[in-house]
Amino acid sequence: MKLLIVDDEKSIRLSLKINMKKLGIDVFTAESGEEGLDIVRKKMPNIAIVDIKLPGISGIDVLKEIKQIKPSCIVIMITYLSDVKLAVKAMKMGAYDYFTKPFSLSEISRSIEETLEYAKTKIEIDKGSRDNQVKFIGQSPEIVKIKENIKEIASMKYNTCILLEGESGSGKEVIAKSIQSIKGDTIPFISINCAAIPKTLQESELFGYEKGAFSDAKNAKEGLIERANNGVLFLDEIGDMDISLQAKMLRVLQEKKFRRIGGLEEMDFKATILSATNKDLKEEIEAGNFRKDLYFRLNIIPIYIPPLRKRREDIIPLVQHFIENYNNVLNKNIESISKEVVDIFKSYLWPGNIRELKNVIERIMIFKKDNKITLEDVPKEILEDDSIEENHHYNLELVEENAIKKALDKNNWNITRTSEELGVSRITLRRKIEKYNLKNIKSDNFCN
Ligand SMILES: Nc1ncnc2c1ncn2[C@@H]1O[C@H](COP(=O)(O)OP(=O)(O)OP(=O)(O)O)[C@@H](O)[C@H]1O
Ligand SMILES: [Mg+2]
Repeated sequence: MKLLIVDDEKSIRLSLKINMKKLGIDVFTAESGEEGLDIVRKKMPNIAIVDIKLPGISGIDVLKEIKQIKPSCIVIMITYLSDVKLAVKAMKMGAYDYFTKPFSLSEISRSIEETLEYAKTKIEIDKGSRDNQVKFIGQSPEIVKIKENIKEIASMKYNTCILLEGESGSGKEVIAKSIQSIKGDTIPFISINCAAIPKTLQESELFGYEKGAFSDAKNAKEGLIERANNGVLFLDEIGDMDISLQAKMLRVLQEKKFRRIGGLEEMDFKATILSATNKDLKEEIEAGNFRKDLYFRLNIIPIYIPPLRKRREDIIPLVQHFIENYNNVLNKNIESISKEVVDIFKSYLWPGNIRELKNVIERIMIFKKDNKITLEDVPKEILEDDSIEENHHYNLELVEENAIKKALDKNNWNITRTSEELGVSRITLRRKIEKYNLKNIKSDNFCN
């Protein structure tokens, strides 16, 4: 078990380190977020304790990056009482817990001991889910369309460039994996997570090198580009690709050729390039962090995955899927979920998207003794979220829209009969049809 402490206060680092070591854990410490992330990449800790206020990049950004590099890492934030709002934000972004300063060491030790139990279960879960094929769940029109598109794209014989865009946790990697499984294992599918590799090492990872190309190059090494030839190269978190490397990557895509670092031979490169990012690349271009020409090259086929709050029909199927999944891996038998919880899950905005939903279910289920999920199990940062109230209004409209749709279909879009059935005037019905932009899919001349 490995634990990382990121705090700029030396006394906190030291005292935590001494106490955590007593629990028999390997402890690493860092004074800044940058240093901490370096350690995350090298040591892949199971748990990270991160101060929210850090001198360089903020604790929230460290949390975000850790979740990119090692999604299963359990992150605990440290904050002053005055910053509790930030801590709640962190919880929504996947932090497991938070401590407020000043804290007692015995309190922290106890809580870390509990977390260790959780971490152990999590390792088991990760092992279990590695064997499982990732399922791409969703029945909203948006997801159905994406499923159709990727089927078509994945069965194409010629090479192209696909760019997956969507908020963090919306399912870009799941889509990449679905493309991989449709393509099958007869062609190489090579992934690189640009956020997980320090910028200085990205070039040698991608291009490979010849023996003696630099002082550490004792032997020649094949790069990922070379390995992906005639297959798929998946550039995950492309927004984190080093800017000078972007120029080199562009050249590879234009010329369809590349060279190892220090190499003389030009090699051919033919592959489908799949890239993904949760950054707004247009904004990154404006800010000078991303090359516009590369963006256009990568974006031949754009796939945008809407955030979960824009496709609420998917929430419950996902919940069911995760419950089933954790019933298996955790050997539990959750059979149902109360109506109130369903309502809250449907109304909550899920800023961390499906990852947040999955984490919430996982956490509930690890500690669950009986077989029904009820209101008491829902984390308080969700229960106390202001957006839920506002969204009840939204949900009412959703109910109305569905009722009208159903009645229209049942009555073959006959406005008079439908309005009678719903007990509203024909004018009202027409207004509602317009408001919800309802269309008679079976016939082109809608509104008879
Ligand atoms: N449609 C889906 N069906 C089932 N599981 C999903 C779906 N979408 C996402 N997940 C699960 O949610 C979690 C987050 O998804 P994923 O890693 O694909 O997000 P992402 O878009 O790549 O996020 P990030 O930008 O942060 O890397 C994963 O555990 C994934 O298995
Ligand atoms: Mg991802």
